[in-house]
Amino acid sequence: MEGRPHQDTAPVPVVQVDSITKHYGGVRALDGVSLNLLPGEVHCLAGENGSGKSTLIKIMSGVERPTSGVIRISGREHPHLTPREAVGQGIDVIFQDLALFKTLTVAENIALPAALSRGDRTVDRARMRKVAQEVTSTLNLDLDLDARVEDLSVADRQLTAICRSMARAARVVFMDEPTTALTHREVQFLFRAVDEMTRKGVSVVFVSHKLDEVRAVCQRITVLRNGQVVAEGAMADFDTARISAAMTGRDLAEMAPETAPSPDTPPLLTVEGLGLAGVFEDVSLSVKPGEVLGIAGLLGSGQTDIAEALFGLQPADKGRITLDGQAVRIDGVADALRHGIGYVPGDRLSQGMFLEQSISDNLLVGSVAQATSRTGLLDRRKVRELDAESIRSLSIKTPSAAEPVSSLSGGNQQRVVIARWLARSPRLLILNSPTVGVDVGSKAGILDILRERAKEGMAVVIISDDPTDLVAICQRVLFVRHGRLAGELVPPDITVESITKELAA
Ligand SMILES: Nc1ncnc2c1ncn2[C@@H]1O[C@H](COP(=O)(O)OP(=O)(O)OP(=O)(O)O)[C@@H](O)[C@H]1O
Ligand SMILES: [Mg+2]
Repeated sequence: MEGRPHQDTAPVPVVQVDSITKHYGGVRALDGVSLNLLPGEVHCLAGENGSGKSTLIKIMSGVERPTSGVIRISGREHPHLTPREAVGQGIDVIFQDLALFKTLTVAENIALPAALSRGDRTVDRARMRKVAQEVTSTLNLDLDLDARVEDLSVADRQLTAICRSMARAARVVFMDEPTTALTHREVQFLFRAVDEMTRKGVSVVFVSHKLDEVRAVCQRITVLRNGQVVAEGAMADFDTARISAAMTGRDLAEMAPETAPSPDTPPLLTVEGLGLAGVFEDVSLSVKPGEVLGIAGLLGSGQTDIAEALFGLQPADKGRITLDGQAVRIDGVADALRHGIGYVPGDRLSQGMFLEQSISDNLLVGSVAQATSRTGLLDRRKVRELDAESIRSLSIKTPSAAEPVSSLSGGNQQRVVIARWLARSPRLLILNSPTVGVDVGSKAGILDILRERAKEGMAVVIISDDPTDLVAICQRVLFVRHGRLAGELVPPDITVESITKELAA
């Protein structure tokens, strides 16, 4: 105990969030949230759908104004920030849509915003390229600076957005669910870039519902529940169980695996030798009423294309489709709908939602028939009943079905899309990654509903790369690799280990 210098004085936070509260009408999205961000840390913001994560990020970036509380940046107090001030203070947000200029090059996207916010009058190309070059090499990234952003993969677009933040000399970068559209490999690249950023002293706030990822990349964590901080600390002190217990306020039971073999009934849908030139080929499968079939594959292996072919979005150009023993053609969505086939797309942000319209109107898109009386009029009471039923069964967090979908949190918007299709009672429902963006506590609930509907006779196809979901609900899992079916698992072999192994094969 002699003469060792004390080095454990706490580092000075870059940003201190102090008792921030945010009301939207009667909804209290944030309730006295306090949080410190340290230089060079990756800080996880965790919480169930609707717990306030995105709201906090919007406040930090000046998009929303807090109802009360202060933000301290380098010691200076701000009751609220404008977007301009936020950027000026080195706070940057990478939103899910990335906000890039699609028709400009990577170099321009990286360097232009920094130049503009400095107020440069002329921006010369050579200089922009030099800035972009510097940033990419600092982060050790291999990006084609002359490529146009519209030609890039989602992953490279994201890296471009990160470089843009670095060029703006950001000190804190918020990332709201950045990994939802990335392959496993791309996630690793993203993490490497995050690592390089933190080495330069930049703090990163990371939001993801994939708790394994969170644990791999974050050093500290703050957990929100109903707009309040309910737990915080070093990541090392949190395992997945503790995080989900903090998020939900209860211990999660392991999801019960579905081992019941499907009854010996003839298939509802049979597909033989289905193909689409250059996309997938020779796909043969069948699914029975009451069966839950999983189609698994890493992102980009062709499973989404197969689903889109079955729903007529991208019709197959080869093969036979049989429904109830009758040969059918699915040349467009209208054909699929007529045959009672439904599809919940993976990319809900761009497909299938009318954000500015009410939850009720969005739900109705699926079920006009059920809510229409014999005289052809919309039965308002019936509509209200259906809305209430959807909101209850999928635990959609909202004060009323009259609220616009845009007022819902990301995970709750997702539930609306699922609810809409369930209300329509299709004979076959294909769901693409139904639990992406849904918090761990609610996944089980959504899967339970699908399982119940299958018991009532609906055929369910789940496209997923999430082994826990597949184990929890599927009676059979097919694997897609390079556009072909390449493997099948049935009970008792449907386990997280065997699925992970097949996916990696
Ligand atoms: N513009 C708005 N109008 C009304 N309510 C809103 C608005 N924006 C957010 N809310 C509400 O604030 C609460 C917090 O939402 P927020 O989007 O911050 O959740 P989140 O933690 O990001 O959830 P998710 O994991 O689903 O993305 C929710 O109840 C949401 O419905
Ligand atoms: Mg959110």
